[in-house]
Amino acid sequence: MNDSPIGIFDSGIGGLTVVREVTKLLPGEKIVYFGDTARVPYGSKSPNVVREFSMQDASFLDRKSVKSIVVACNTASAECMDLLRSEFDIPVIGVIEPGARTAAESTKKGIVGVIGTYGTVASGAYTEAVHAVDPSIKVESVACPLFVPLVEEGWQDKQVTKKIAEEYLSILIDKGIDTLILGCTHYPVLKPVLQEVVGDGVNLIDSAVATAAELNRILKENNLESPAGQKEIEHEFFVSDLPYKFKETAERFLGKELPDVELVPLELLESGLKI
Ligand code: DGL
Repeated sequence: MNDSPIGIFDSGIGGLTVVREVTKLLPGEKIVYFGDTARVPYGSKSPNVVREFSMQDASFLDRKSVKSIVVACNTASAECMDLLRSEFDIPVIGVIEPGARTAAESTKKGIVGVIGTYGTVASGAYTEAVHAVDPSIKVESVACPLFVPLVEEGWQDKQVTKKIAEEYLSILIDKGIDTLILGCTHYPVLKPVLQEVVGDGVNLIDSAVATAAELNRILKENNLESPAGQKEIEHEFFVSDLPYKFKETAERFLGKELPDVELVPLELLESGLKI
């Protein structure tokens, strides 16, 4: 089991920010990544649809004999953690609890902002997770649906992105937040512009960093760490549509070349058959 890979899934490319942090912290672990590029975005879909898709994504990784599943999508984490944890007998880690815990521990004024997709914000999952640590913290949330396409387009340095960020975030700045949770796995790409807009007095919480640390803790606790001294590790990447486009964007995201990305046809994903 220790030699088995870690499964990571997202609705598309955003989960690569989690892959980046996991490979930094746990360079000896092999990763199997699945991006549901045929059905992205999840953030504007209903909870039932997100649950159905996430179950299929996680089952695909389970059939790849992974030792743990990381739900590297906030929208899926917001809707499905209980379901996935009850369906699979390996550790399932989401991005919301680790990010919320870090935010609750870091706020001095007790006012935390959350930005995410419509689905994540509507679920109230971050508010609940922050309050589980400290119910006295005020949590202010704003959905920022335009950020995902801007990131996918590689427009993080454009003026228009800064203008949109100013528009979305002004309400949170007015509320006096000192901590801002980046509640979508695409958003860490926008860190420089978001920091500029909210100012240095606001601490940005990247759930990807907190999630990698949580995965490390869970692997240790369950004696699932890969044996030291593993040879060159070849991660595997699968998507449900347009593998070439994914490879191109992913290489820009991660700043390095990737192995070939394999297509998992939707019929196969839905049927639960082995690829
Ligand atoms: N990466 C997804 C998340 O973290 C956002 C993209 C989507 O809407 O599917 O919520």
